[in-house]
Amino acid sequence: METIISGVGSYLPENAVTNTELAKRIDTSDEWIRSRSGIGQRHFAADDQSTSDMAREAAWNALEQAGLKPTDIGLIIVATVTPDKTFPSTAVYVQQKLGVPPCIAFDVSAACAGFIYAMNVAHSFITTGQVKHALIIGAEKLSCFLDWNDRATCVLFGDGAGAAILSGVPARTAARPRGVLSTYLAADGRLAKHLYADGGPSTTGTVGQVRMNGKEVFRNAVQEIAGAVFEVTERAKVSRHDIDWFVPHQANIRIIHSCAKKLELDESKVIVTIDKHANTSSASIPLALDIGIRDGRIKRGDLLVFAALGGGLAWGSALVRY
Ligand code: UT7
Repeated sequence: METIISGVGSYLPENAVTNTELAKRIDTSDEWIRSRSGIGQRHFAADDQSTSDMAREAAWNALEQAGLKPTDIGLIIVATVTPDKTFPSTAVYVQQKLGVPPCIAFDVSAACAGFIYAMNVAHSFITTGQVKHALIIGAEKLSCFLDWNDRATCVLFGDGAGAAILSGVPARTAARPRGVLSTYLAADGRLAKHLYADGGPSTTGTVGQVRMNGKEVFRNAVQEIAGAVFEVTERAKVSRHDIDWFVPHQANIRIIHSCAKKLELDESKVIVTIDKHANTSSASIPLALDIGIRDGRIKRGDLLVFAALGGGLAWGSALVRY
């Protein structure tokens, strides 16, 4: 059995806010944000738009591309740190909004690495024969917990959603396997203090706001994202030089360039969306993947590597023959 990506979709809220517009509200500048992070704009959801609303839009697009119906889905995993409600999972609201009949549905909480965690879990469900088609979604309404008095964090994040359908298919040829070839996950709770929300139901009883030690996260991101790519290529016994597209988490263009350099990957092989989307946490990789597929750069048969690091700190990677 192989786990292939049969469809991908994404959604960005209508409201795009440029750096220059932000600079009217807080003490910052387009020059600072662009030069330190590579961000030019971000999208913000409407007040009445929930994470599951954005997830549903991305999921419809993925289903349409896969040529599947909601009734075909046996597993829904939503990776998010901004759930609709403390419980139940955002996945059940997505299920409800898509009209998916009773199936397995739950959320994963691994911040910016959430989509990679969801991919790993769905791959296991498929290869153990428990489901045929899994819908995995990274969706975030990060604007709901930004501290507008902390200019070092609030300028970096945006809202959005990206989805993929993973499908189990019989292996075609052992010589050139398709789909998910290898995955790698890790987390180190000793580093949780560097990126977190300072609230929660069992502590403050509030949602909290994003807190980040940017320099520490930056240092770990370069090291672990590059290391995670080494790990999945070694696990699959594939040369790094055979990678067609590096689709990294979009947190900072300097992190992306440093990782590409460590991996000896030409920048023309990297999908970059940070300028338009900013950091959308778990949504950033599927959003970038969808852009790369729909604009024709990523083609069937290409070797893709996804890698991310975020709050936890949690990180991971996946090597996929698309
Ligand atoms: O998705 C999860 C993963 N997240 C990340 O990977 C983020 C990782 N970290 C980063 O991307 C970078 O550390 C930042 C973009 C957050 C910051 O870049 P930096 O080069 O580390 O800047 P800094 O924190 O050293 O700040 C430099 C200066 C400070 O001024 P002084 O003390 O040097 O005078 C800040 O006060 O920039 C100032 N500053 C700002 N100035 C204008 C901080 N934020 C802003 C701002 N506008 N928005």
